[in-house]
Amino acid sequence: MLPADSGIAEAASVLRTGGLVAFPTETVYGLGANALDARAAARIFEAKARPSFDPLITHLADAAELEKLVGAVPAAVAALTERFWPGPLTLIVDRPAAIPPIVTSGLPTMAVRVPDNAYARALIAEAGVPVAAPSANRFGQLSPTRAEHVVRGLGAAVDVVLDGGPTRCGIESTIVDARDGRPVVLRLGALPVEALEEAVGPVTVRPGSSGQPVAPGTLAAHYAPRTPLRLASGGEPPAADGVRRGFLAFRDRPAGDWAAVEVLSAAGDLTEAAARLFDALHELDAAGVAEILVEPVPEVGVGRAVNDRLRRAAATWHPAA
Ligand code: TXA
Ligand code: MG
Repeated sequence: MLPADSGIAEAASVLRTGGLVAFPTETVYGLGANALDARAAARIFEAKARPSFDPLITHLADAAELEKLVGAVPAAVAALTERFWPGPLTLIVDRPAAIPPIVTSGLPTMAVRVPDNAYARALIAEAGVPVAAPSANRFGQLSPTRAEHVVRGLGAAVDVVLDGGPTRCGIESTIVDARDGRPVVLRLGALPVEALEEAVGPVTVRPGSSGQPVAPGTLAAHYAPRTPLRLASGGEPPAADGVRRGFLAFRDRPAGDWAAVEVLSAAGDLTEAAARLFDALHELDAAGVAEILVEPVPEVGVGRAVNDRLRRAAATWHPAA
């Protein structure tokens, strides 16, 4: 683990020579490799135990790099990059020849974004290459919002972990396909649908929970802690059956005798709740409880993406729910 303040040069050289670098973005920590190097990209799939059908997101230091990499982009895509980059919005474009097919899992399209994190952008600029990076967790598990989460989850599989502190948004980027002029949200994320609609008018949300790997962050079971997790309301105290249970609350502490409680935002602020979501789940997962109950948050703004993560985490254990 290197402090991001002083570790950029070393981490960039590891990227250039085919190594793996975990780095902070404004959403979650990414597990980066040189996106122009098929062997380096292959190491990402190995380290995460990620199925080869799940394509990676390519990260650029600056919006101006997009045209250099892929040539002209459709007008509706350009409008979104101008409005929201750098930021938690991933866009779908045609895969350029310079990007090896392993990065996109053989898809003719590529997911790309410019992260709004000074360390991430300095790292990518210093490396001088586009950086392929999924979230820096093992496949299907909780996303990392702190450098310690990366070390705990991936350990020696990563060459360098750049520690830039906790991430600002706390959940992954919103993924949008706007190539044909009508934006479709493929994955709900840190950029709220309302913000997109304010900028470009109505968008379609495709939850894609059918298991079809359009965007595998949308597989029904995903983002899961090791501890069984299910959805609950805040009103009921835990059953008095001696089982140790944890509770993830939105704003109010739940009544009753819970073995562990995490409150996402005592102020009832959805942005704060999103930023704390994975951190709180990591805490509850480490609390030695037999089950975690989670309370959905209001279904507006970034709350939709928070609830989406909670439902998928619960689906791992209650596939019928
Ligand atoms: O915030 C984020 O997006 C973080 C940070 C590190 O940038 N990254 C992230 O990556 O969440 P990952 O691998 O956990 O999720 C990437 C998602 C996957 O669900 C993948 O299927 C989808 O992006 N994706 C990648 N390429 C795609 C494509 N060509 N078409 C549709 N979906 C794609
Ligand atoms: Mg992920």
